[in-house]
Amino acid sequence: MRDTLTVLGLESSCDDTAAAVVRHAPGTAPEILASVVAGQTALHAPYGGVVPELAARAHAEKLDLCVEEALALSGLRLADLDAIAVTAGPGLIGGVLSGVMCAKGLAAGAGLPLVGVNHLAGHALTPRLTDGLAFPYLMLLVSGGHCQFLIARGIDDFTRLGGTIDDAPGEAFDKTAKLLGLPQPGGPSVEAEAMIGDPARFALPRPLLDRPGCDMSFSGLKTALLRARDALIAAQGGITRQDRADLCAGFQQAVAAVLAEKSRRAIAAYQALLPQEPAFAVAGGVAANRTIRAALEDVAARAGVRFVAPPLRLCTDNAAMIAWAGIERFRAGQMDDMSLGARPRWPLDRTSPAMLGSGKKGAKA
Ligand code: KG4
Ligand code: ZN
Repeated sequence: MRDTLTVLGLESSCDDTAAAVVRHAPGTAPEILASVVAGQTALHAPYGGVVPELAARAHAEKLDLCVEEALALSGLRLADLDAIAVTAGPGLIGGVLSGVMCAKGLAAGAGLPLVGVNHLAGHALTPRLTDGLAFPYLMLLVSGGHCQFLIARGIDDFTRLGGTIDDAPGEAFDKTAKLLGLPQPGGPSVEAEAMIGDPARFALPRPLLDRPGCDMSFSGLKTALLRARDALIAAQGGITRQDRADLCAGFQQAVAAVLAEKSRRAIAAYQALLPQEPAFAVAGGVAANRTIRAALEDVAARAGVRFVAPPLRLCTDNAAMIAWAGIERFRAGQMDDMSLGARPRWPLDRTSPAMLGSGKKGAKA
């Protein structure tokens, strides 16, 4: 096996079409030679959520272009690569299929090995790409589609400590924005409104805090917000800008409080299991929220644990994380062949029971 590996990664499991080239020589920091992400926000905006069929068609149209652009930006040809890595699940099946078919075509055409990557492993291995984090570490994936605590012990060795039993927090932010007439994606618009809001005015619930363990729930919070909004409308005929800001601030505070308390428990559970110097890493779009990030950083500091938050462009869906996970798998001899399938569900921790339901962005685990 060659020492230096250069891998093209493809990602199309949700509403971002992405291609990236990552190069790594053992003993050095990995280099992202190119990372192209074509989002579909405008395409789905009229529907208030991701429409799987539209997403799949857009991926099929955009993948080739993203690959061409990533190769051009890195100054490479297919022949310069060592492997093609692709998200093979979990996610919206049409999009995953588009990516897998594209990767198979490229691999067969160029005579390159094919590596199927679990999208969640891509997120979970990102702190190794960005910060060279050694195993083991604790990971919180918190986005529009994911919410789970994982102990990462190896590239294929994850233990799930808990996760959402209904909505992912990003999904709850997006629904909250919709309920309050704010633009999508909801996270940044709710955060901006919350800046001038009073988080203490509305007593919104902190779901599942009364239950032990690291599982979370966010759908009741959104319902409580809807009730508070409707009570205001009934009492005064509408909501003022200040009402909206106070609702946003209360909601954001509740999500931050739940994530912080569950992170505290996850860190304690991790420390009870593993004696090594602990590290707590976060990934996902919701980790961009300043109130939430500060709350998580505070929890880590109090527990004496190193806090790692990769840059946002590598926390949200991208293909550099898939190329990197592909490099890790390739080095471990974990290659696939033309029988690689697309999997709508693919839990990282095979010993955990499957989570219920599926979010607007596809299966949760
Ligand atoms: O990781 P991501 O790009 O995609 C997946 O969902 O996989 O995360 C997007 C989610 C959206 O739901 C968005 O509203 C949320 O992350 N988000 C935020 C913020 N920025 C993005 N949520 C709260 N505060 C933010 N500043
Ligand atoms: Zn993701």
